[in-house]
Amino acid sequence: MKRYHVTTFGCQMNAHDSERIKGMLESLGIGEAPSQEEADVLVFNTCTIREKPDTKFAAHLAQATALKRRDPEKVIAVGGCYAEAQRERLFQLYPEVDVAFGPGSIPHLGDWLGVGGQVAGSAERGRFGTHEHFAGDLPMRRERRFQAWVQISMGCNSKCAYCIVPAVRGREQSRRPGDILAEVTQLAQDGVREITLLGQNVNSWGRDLRPALDIEFGELLRACDTVAGIERIRFTSPHPKDFRQPVIEAMAECTAVCEHVHLPLQSGSSRILKAMRRTYDRERYLRLAATLRDAIPDLALGTDLIVGFPGETEDDFRATLDVVKEVRYDSAFTFVYSPRRGTEAANLDDQVPDEVKRDRIERLVEVVQRVAAERNAERIGSVEQVLVEGSSRTDVGLLRGRTRRNTTVVFAGNAQPGDLVEVLIEGATSTTLRGAQPAAVAA
Ligand code: 5AD
Ligand code: SF4
Repeated sequence: MKRYHVTTFGCQMNAHDSERIKGMLESLGIGEAPSQEEADVLVFNTCTIREKPDTKFAAHLAQATALKRRDPEKVIAVGGCYAEAQRERLFQLYPEVDVAFGPGSIPHLGDWLGVGGQVAGSAERGRFGTHEHFAGDLPMRRERRFQAWVQISMGCNSKCAYCIVPAVRGREQSRRPGDILAEVTQLAQDGVREITLLGQNVNSWGRDLRPALDIEFGELLRACDTVAGIERIRFTSPHPKDFRQPVIEAMAECTAVCEHVHLPLQSGSSRILKAMRRTYDRERYLRLAATLRDAIPDLALGTDLIVGFPGETEDDFRATLDVVKEVRYDSAFTFVYSPRRGTEAANLDDQVPDEVKRDRIERLVEVVQRVAAERNAERIGSVEQVLVEGSSRTDVGLLRGRTRRNTTVVFAGNAQPGDLVEVLIEGATSTTLRGAQPAAVAA
């Protein structure tokens, strides 16, 4: 039997795409190999959001190339966003690649590899698909038994000046509500308790279905909330510009929808937000954060932040620090601006020098961590509902799980993965809570 190995880079959307890639290869009778060495088909699902993933992929591919030299029958398939971004020159850059496919063409992968037993011999070079299909109907090999990603849209209609995603994932296309609900219902029947709805901009979901269907994201949340067995609903990512009242109300009223929003700010300076084409300013973002907090008690807020966007001054940067302190994020992903070929911002003159970017990211990380540590410390003494994911990565005697607010908890207790348990919080760092199940405390 032929065997595959998939290496994944990038975001949750890509991780979910890899579940589809694996499921599809398995439906073709190709099994998973534990390592690249043992695989006949080496798949790389790539990311290109910043320069770092590009470099990481190049290193991995060098390794795969060495393996292929020893065994020329091996097939190297490169998919995902980097493959799409480089589609004109991928085979020039990497002649050892046999098959390339963009994020919109996973459904064709099987055809291109040749079906079943003859994988290696029949691979074709240089195939790319368009963004015409949802991967939602493909078989899937889920990574986690009690948690699942559910894709609700693909592509993005925003024009953020720094971002390559619209170029590689195409225009936004919403998946039909009936298809989404059918998948969520099936997942619940398979034992899934937590779903994360995925889209580049979940809050604009449904717009392109009009006029045939008049439905918005809040209604989708309400529909998912009625599915028996689904205890937790998350979504990522919402664009602040499209976060409307019906969605806030649905979040507040649906018991399964978790008290957590990842709300990408990018910059705290209205001037930079404008240059980024985010279409909201600092005040509007702060108002939205306040409205969300008013409507949803105990809400956890996370964000994405970029330092060193072209033209960012020390004052602009300080405005970002100020918003972090004002909103008091529970978590934040911090990025150094990385110019991407083909984006608007890559052509701007006033690029920020590397040493200034480095200095700013260090200062930003310090503030982000301090605020997150304070926020987590506020949980000490409270009892949190935790979905158990497994044992602690550093101490197998302890369990690990996540609160509804999406914080990782390491705790003493007695429970199985997939259980929902109460944990008394006893300690906190900037990223993790520590605690114990009350029964274990008493014992
Ligand atoms: N440089 C740095 N960070 C970026 N992001 C997107 N594009 C870039 C870029 N060119 C960040 C944004 C986005 C997150 C997924 O990645 O913060 O929200
Ligand atoms: Fe995800 Fe964007 Fe990376 Fe593609 S480029 S994998 S959409 S983060």
